[in-house]
Amino acid sequence: MTMRAVVKGIGHYLPERVVPNSELSRSLDTSDAWIRARSGIERRHFAAKGQGTSDLATRAALAALADAGLAARDINAIIVATSTPDLTFPSVATMVQDKIAMTTGFAFDVQAVCAGFVFALSTANAMIIAGQAKRILVIGAETFSQLMDWTDRSTCVLFGDGAGALVLEAQRGDGTKADRGILAADLNSDGRHRNILFVDGGVSTKTVGHLRMEGKEVFRHAVEKLAKTAQRVLERADISDHEIDWIVPHQANIRIIQGIARKMSVPLDRVIITVQDHGNTSAASIPLALSIGQKDGKIKKNDLIVTEAIGGGLAWGSVVLRW
Ligand code: UT7
Repeated sequence: MTMRAVVKGIGHYLPERVVPNSELSRSLDTSDAWIRARSGIERRHFAAKGQGTSDLATRAALAALADAGLAARDINAIIVATSTPDLTFPSVATMVQDKIAMTTGFAFDVQAVCAGFVFALSTANAMIIAGQAKRILVIGAETFSQLMDWTDRSTCVLFGDGAGALVLEAQRGDGTKADRGILAADLNSDGRHRNILFVDGGVSTKTVGHLRMEGKEVFRHAVEKLAKTAQRVLERADISDHEIDWIVPHQANIRIIQGIARKMSVPLDRVIITVQDHGNTSAASIPLALSIGQKDGKIKKNDLIVTEAIGGGLAWGSVVLRW
């Protein structure tokens, strides 16, 4: 018998305001054609004034609880992956804990930028296997619109706001790849590359700062590192490429997604793609894609899924799970 962290429910929340590329091209030297061709993005959602990451996270958490048929009191822990907390502290996770009226258990944030949800999933899995929690709400929530330099066309057209959440539950499995739940994880980081994607503000500067990115460099690392981490996690779980039902990648750029699918010999119709509608929502992108994939009737119980993501740090990783 092996303890497995199984997905019990999933949900997401996207802020009401939808901003198409054409709206950005009114105030910026850019075009719908450039943004679509270079990134695949057509529109993104932006949070309303006064709407913080914890508000988005709470809406996603409540949707995931409803999907699981559970109440806040049934949850032992909340892990929120975010790089855009409402405040420096307390954590977004404790804010969500309060907003859903959960008065027991524990809550904390994980910060691994766009790879945050993969790191949070892996952390939650380890805690469930160790017996530290039976049910964990794992949330990816971001308001990257707050970090944009609206005069920098090379970054501000790429990002959006949103949140996704899932409930992981401890369930007994046989220890084989036929088990439902998380089957393997692979985490990596290399701080030597911290200057190609970062925010130039924070506590030490007394400013919030803006996102800065050397897009071409990040792109180069992304295709190479994501294909490798996905390969490693599949080897770890003894799964071959043709067994995969869905790749659910971080949604940063359609060209990166296509490159990885090609390297893994998985056809694009077995990849969940939402980047056109959401832009890059950092740690929220994978749970959003999982939630929408299930809602659209694509992802079904027992499907074998590989997720992978890379972001600032650089930090990157992947998780393979059976839905
Ligand atoms: O989630 C974290 C991980 N992040 C990523 O994975 C992002 C990785 N990088 C990328 O997705 C791509 O590198 C970008 C979408 C950021 C950029 O695409 P690119 O094909 O690498 O374009 P580029 O940066 O080489 O820029 C090409 C040209 C430049 O003009 P010149 O120097 O060739 O004259 C840019 O100034 O496009 C120009 N450009 C723009 N033009 C119109 C840059 N941004 C824009 C814009 N609109 N918004």
